[in-house]
Amino acid sequence: MKTHLPNFLEARRRSKQRINIDRSEFKIPDDIKNIGNERKYYLRTYGCQSNERDGETIAGILEMMGFVRTTIIEEADFVLLNTCAVRANAENKVLGELGSLKRLKTTNPDLILGMCGCMAQEESVINTILKQYDHVDLVFGTHNIHRLPQLLYHTMLSKEKTIEVFSKEGEIIENLPVKRFGEHKAFVNIMYGCDKFCTYCIVPYTRGKERSRLIEDVLQEIQQLKDEGFKEVMLLGQNVNAYGKDLGLGYDFAFLLEEVAKVGIPRIRFMTSHPWDFTDKMVEVIAHHENIMPFIHLPLQSGNDDILKKMGRRYTVESYLKIFDKLKQHVKNIAFSTDIIVGFPNETQQQFEDTLKVIKYCEYDNCFTFIYSPRENTPAAKLVDNVTLEEKNSRFQILSQLCNEIALEKNKQCIGKVLHVLVDGPSKKNKQVFAGYAENGKLVNFVGDNISVGEIVEVKITAAKTWSLYGEAIK
Ligand code: 5AD
Ligand code: SF4
Repeated sequence: MKTHLPNFLEARRRSKQRINIDRSEFKIPDDIKNIGNERKYYLRTYGCQSNERDGETIAGILEMMGFVRTTIIEEADFVLLNTCAVRANAENKVLGELGSLKRLKTTNPDLILGMCGCMAQEESVINTILKQYDHVDLVFGTHNIHRLPQLLYHTMLSKEKTIEVFSKEGEIIENLPVKRFGEHKAFVNIMYGCDKFCTYCIVPYTRGKERSRLIEDVLQEIQQLKDEGFKEVMLLGQNVNAYGKDLGLGYDFAFLLEEVAKVGIPRIRFMTSHPWDFTDKMVEVIAHHENIMPFIHLPLQSGNDDILKKMGRRYTVESYLKIFDKLKQHVKNIAFSTDIIVGFPNETQQQFEDTLKVIKYCEYDNCFTFIYSPRENTPAAKLVDNVTLEEKNSRFQILSQLCNEIALEKNKQCIGKVLHVLVDGPSKKNKQVFAGYAENGKLVNFVGDNISVGEIVEVKITAAKTWSLYGEAIK
């Protein structure tokens, strides 16, 4: 067995050392290069957009090795689950899935079953795999995706279990292959990792320290995407506002955003902005560039100052609302989404109601709501919690209902307006109906003639539901 296991203490450590950037050509050694040989791989990604983007790198590497993607798991020679560790229920789903995939080995004994992503970075998960999941052949983490060819080769050749997970981030590797899953929308990493250490969150441990790509590398990628006909880029980072701080080169996220806008790609989005270091300059840049979409994800988490403090969020409700109001005032037709956690340890009914109050004030277009889930080794997980699960569930119901009512109301306000929709394709249910997203992040289903995928169409909104709008193209 080839093993390198994750270590929590190492994952928590932050060094001041500057991260190297490797710009060399990505090469796969000759003896490994073609081991795919038309074999089929099945890849399933869970969780956030960063993970989705990692999936595109993994697919790029596998296809460079001659593997071919399949969406039918039963016919795959290599099955890989790219996992998320943010909440326990997502993890349990993956563990259940990994268990049930054992059946595939009875019909295909040569099948290689792999797991990667954030769960692989957790000591407890690796221990579970070692103890209870003998049929899992390959595990690698978020810091060594580039090692996939060697690890896969080792697994295939030796038929031994291969686990290689590094807890410390390595260099930024620029030229990894990528198989883009979207045809006109692309994810672009601008930075990796997170140093915020919110007390409930496992991400700083699974994805390492904050490290930014150089601005010239980001801009070059976006220019290339534009040249290839892409219409939209989503700039990715756990906290994009921290962009550039680690580089010490004098540029920040506002500067990057403006430079990206100048490239002239039709649509720019970004995710996620922490309310703590959202600068006035960012507001200004967003307000002044037509191609920066007026849709901001601004996670509130809680509407109570004591809870925010215990969460380690570094802002108060007042300072959050200051940014919110400023954005609303300066950016035309802006829409907001947010993340809310209910049932943080010892959250009182009053503190929960404070959150509802802020939600009512902000009238978010979309709320992502979660019940607090204790995460291994995080500071919040050590707190004694006096709120019962029953209580948390009941608060969650109240919260979801409020968010849905507001979302429907906000959608109704779009009726009669003309929105610009980037067409994703004909709707799954009805080929005469097209679907896409408007500048304000809303899903729009619409009818129209001579509509092509990837074009931006003016659509008059005629009806609204909680999760989508309906309209007619104006042409
Ligand atoms: N429990 C519940 N929700 C969490 N999130 C992150 N960690 C946890 C946790 N331990 C939520 C936050 C974050 C989103 C991506 O997931 O709201 O913004
Ligand atoms: Fe987690 Fe906070 Fe970092 Fe977001 S900013 S990834 S919630 S630690």
